[in-house]
Amino acid sequence: MHIPGPDPQDDGGASAVAAAGGLHRYQLRLHEVYGPVVRFQLPGAATAVSVADPVLLEATAHLDERPGELFAFLDPLCEAGNLQVLPADEHTPWRRLLLSVLAGRPAHERHFAHFTGAARELADRWAGRAGGEPVELQQELTALSLRMICGFALGGADADTDVGRVAAAFEEVLTEHLGRLYQVPRADPRSAERAEEALAYLRATVDRVVAAHRPAGRTDRSDLIGALVEAGESPARIRDTVMVTLLAAHHTTGVAVSWTLHLLGRHPEAADRVAAELDRVLGDRAVPDYGDLRRLTYLDMVLKESMRLFPPGPYGARTTSEDLVVGPYEIPAGATVFYPFWAVHLNPEHWPEPERFDPERFTPERVARRARYAYVPFGIGSRGCEGAALATVEARAVLAVFLKRLRFDAAPGRAVTPVERFVLWARDGIHMTVRARDGHPREPAP
Ligand code: HEM
Repeated sequence: MHIPGPDPQDDGGASAVAAAGGLHRYQLRLHEVYGPVVRFQLPGAATAVSVADPVLLEATAHLDERPGELFAFLDPLCEAGNLQVLPADEHTPWRRLLLSVLAGRPAHERHFAHFTGAARELADRWAGRAGGEPVELQQELTALSLRMICGFALGGADADTDVGRVAAAFEEVLTEHLGRLYQVPRADPRSAERAEEALAYLRATVDRVVAAHRPAGRTDRSDLIGALVEAGESPARIRDTVMVTLLAAHHTTGVAVSWTLHLLGRHPEAADRVAAELDRVLGDRAVPDYGDLRRLTYLDMVLKESMRLFPPGPYGARTTSEDLVVGPYEIPAGATVFYPFWAVHLNPEHWPEPERFDPERFTPERVARRARYAYVPFGIGSRGCEGAALATVEARAVLAVFLKRLRFDAAPGRAVTPVERFVLWARDGIHMTVRARDGHPREPAP
């Protein structure tokens, strides 16, 4: 059956994407008009097909190749081959190794106090602000998650490693590379040169951590660089892995927490319930232990519902190596298949009243009744996010620290507009006022 979609345009689809305000908004609109499977044009993808139906997505879950052109902007960050588009035979062992650290409890437990400590410093700063000036959450929280992931990724670092400087250098590199991707003019004429210097500094830092590595005899599954060294990965691949981990981890986790606080500000009844759960589980403690997380079930439902409504990474892409049958359609070999996570999460067939914030959608009973790929904030199949479990631990830890003590309300007169900027980003930031919860002191808890 012919896949529906708009008529071809001479510019290869560029102006249609721009007019819609970015690729994921364009995909949302296409699915509204043409249904769950849509064919469209895109510069860099001769045949592009987007699939927004969770059941049809199952037929694509085995695809194990990404389209090179769409991810070419990451080439300069990798020395030993762009990790986003590695061929499957190289990608599979790399993924397994990454998962053995990022997805495991030892790593989460070991780094947990560092996560809550960083969140608590920020909460102290906010709680101490005079005059109720709003804070801009998105910048603050992406900076916080960058600090958390730098500490995590350089877990074997010696005392000389300045995590603050590593985070600043990475920010410099990323601003330059994303600036090129989105054609943002840069004010500083030396920005390219400074990004090169920052990249060299980051690589040298990783090399120093690698050189200082002492084989533990038995692999320490909380030490990312240690695990890569012990698996015999090349120094260049280790440097690349750290870079890609920082890149994949920091904006995504930061915006996940920002969007959650934004939604709680709009839904005070849900914020009350989160606060009551935290009081019940933590008692007088200001900060959770790792073991508390599994008892914060409502907080987890709120986070999931927030990532449904605002998926931090709004789409994924694969290439078909042979013809593929998806429901009544045939997608030819060599096509780019898009996963429009946002459109999947707003599909009314699977999410009644899709725009409504309702954490109850994530009770275990309702999750069990839903199609497997109806909720896919971390992607699909063998290229799905290796950091999903770690990101969830980080986000829940940070939210628990904040919401035990503080209450966040939308700052008046500030619109919040989601736009595409590598992640689903609020165009003018997320401004909120922060106040101590009733009965909770403004000053840091002892
Ligand atoms: C809330 C936070 C996060 C979200 C929503 C998120 C989402 C995603 C998505 C949608 C993808 C693409 C998946 C696909 O193509 O099917 C991805 C890939 C990836 N993510 Fe995450 N991510 C998050 C945090 C993290 C963290 C904390 C790490 C590492 C510590 C991480 C590491 C990666 C890596 C390495 C990839 C590339 C996967 C591959 O090619 O094998 N992410 N992530």
